[in-house]
Amino acid sequence: MKYWLAMWHILIISIAVVSAQGRYENTNLKQDWWETAVFYQIYPRSFMDSDGDGVGDINGITSRLEYLKELGVDATWLSPIFKSPMHDFGYDVSDYYSIQPEYGSMEDFEQLLRKAGELNIKIILDFVPNHSSNESDWFIKSSNKDEYYSDWYVWENGHLDDRGQRSPPNNWVSVFRKTAWTYMPTRDQYYLHQFGTSQPDFNYRNPVVVEEMKNVIKFWLEKGVAGMRINSINHLFEVDKDVFGGRYPNEPLTGKPGLGPEDYGYLDHVYTKDQDETYDMVSQLRDVFDAISIRDNVTRVMMTEASTTIKNAVKYYGEGIHRGAHIPFNFALIADLDKDSDARDIKFAVDRWLTYKPLKKQANWVTGNHDKSRVASRFRPELVDAFNMLVLLLPGIAITYMGEEIGMVNGFVPWSETKDPQACNTDDPVNFIDVSRDPVRTPFQWSNGKNAGFSSAEVTWLPVAEGYEHLNVAAQRSAVRSHYQVYRTLTNLRLRPAFRLGRYESLALHRDVFAFKRWYNDDTYVVVMNVGRVYHVVNLTAFDLIFGQLEVEASSVLSSRTYSDSVQANYLDLAADEALVLRMQV
Ligand code: BGC
Repeated sequence: MKYWLAMWHILIISIAVVSAQGRYENTNLKQDWWETAVFYQIYPRSFMDSDGDGVGDINGITSRLEYLKELGVDATWLSPIFKSPMHDFGYDVSDYYSIQPEYGSMEDFEQLLRKAGELNIKIILDFVPNHSSNESDWFIKSSNKDEYYSDWYVWENGHLDDRGQRSPPNNWVSVFRKTAWTYMPTRDQYYLHQFGTSQPDFNYRNPVVVEEMKNVIKFWLEKGVAGMRINSINHLFEVDKDVFGGRYPNEPLTGKPGLGPEDYGYLDHVYTKDQDETYDMVSQLRDVFDAISIRDNVTRVMMTEASTTIKNAVKYYGEGIHRGAHIPFNFALIADLDKDSDARDIKFAVDRWLTYKPLKKQANWVTGNHDKSRVASRFRPELVDAFNMLVLLLPGIAITYMGEEIGMVNGFVPWSETKDPQACNTDDPVNFIDVSRDPVRTPFQWSNGKNAGFSSAEVTWLPVAEGYEHLNVAAQRSAVRSHYQVYRTLTNLRLRPAFRLGRYESLALHRDVFAFKRWYNDDTYVVVMNVGRVYHVVNLTAFDLIFGQLEVEASSVLSSRTYSDSVQANYLDLAADEALVLRMQV
């Protein structure tokens, strides 16, 4: 009986393989470098300090490129390194064509490019097109009504009441809280800043501004960067005020409980975000990338960041006549999940993105960045490997924020040492912690040495997170089992065709157990993770064509299983938090 059952399975598998081969016959299997690449985000201020001033820098990054190679990273995107007064730590650029001196010189950057090139690691820069710094020459000239620059920013008259009291043009609120308008006596007008007061918004209805932004992109692409991550793209346009009789209208209230007129969530941002004109601008910017890619026959990638609804997010892939970005960031694993999420929520979040994403475009997976709480803190430390398995083994592009590969946790930065403008703007020494982004920006933990090996300074720009003595790269490198080792195994595994090209199917096998299958021809894998706090037995034969024995390719740090252990498809006992990558035996 068993013999016939096995023969029957073999027959079915052969049919599946033949039909899978058929399916791929007409597909061009050649992939461009970025399509299944691993991108690693570096927050330069916190990665590696080479000159002992307590602030990370470019030479520090160059000195650690081998580490990225070791991890199996293909490209690294750097948070902004351009000249900036650092009110928002580089997201307030004062000169788009030069390097922030405390990070190094242009020569240092060119040296970084050279060394990265030798190691075949691509460098991507973060570009901030929505706003500059209020200390940029452009803004200073604009606020002095210089003829050429006068219209570069969004200027609007305020209101004067009978008693001569001045108030902002309307109720718009900044993402960082409080009014989005600041008065400039030189023009007797207000400028718009959708983020901090030091970040005046550009006027994208002025073609000269658009041209300059294209020039900035060209400048860095010509220098040899492999692409750019375009920041806050959905804030580029405000509603056309001419449609409203020449005045920007108030935004409607959300009615969300517990919020006041100074809170960003108090308003529904229908006039300041996600305006239709944005998609045409994306298309125009994409042309700049494509022109250079075609000339050099190497793709320069455009990544876009927009915190928005899923329907708006996928528009950045391009629609109709509008060309989109290569990689519109997918924040589903951040925005749709929290510490109470179970396997069904994970399945729903993953499948939802894959459903909305245009069929032929590449997905991408992100679990963290310099703005969001770390995985170990947002969920729990025991789930770090499971989340790295999602990022690295789901179909498409993987994007890792520095430190997630070793499971770094949020640091603690007291009010007295808080630097993040979003936290400072709360004016609240207790609740600032809910919005502060400093905890995810604490120095990278290289070793158990001084300042976790990040810097030789007496004081680092943010304090090193507690627990670095045990949680650091050096310790995990020498340990037999560690998040770092798991991460490397996963980046290696993802080179196989099943993960690069293979198909995908997912199941919530239990409320606590999420699993997905990836397969290409006869090479089949199941990734299974128990995200619950208790032991469960699951049956993997719920997946089509999964039966018999599977072999362990990777296991989470706390799992009792190791490489090449066998498990039974129809009876798999999983400890709490255990995550496994299994390969079908044929
Ligand atoms: C960046 C933030 C920054 C903001 C304003 C965001 O999208 O990721 O770190 O504060 O843009 O530039």
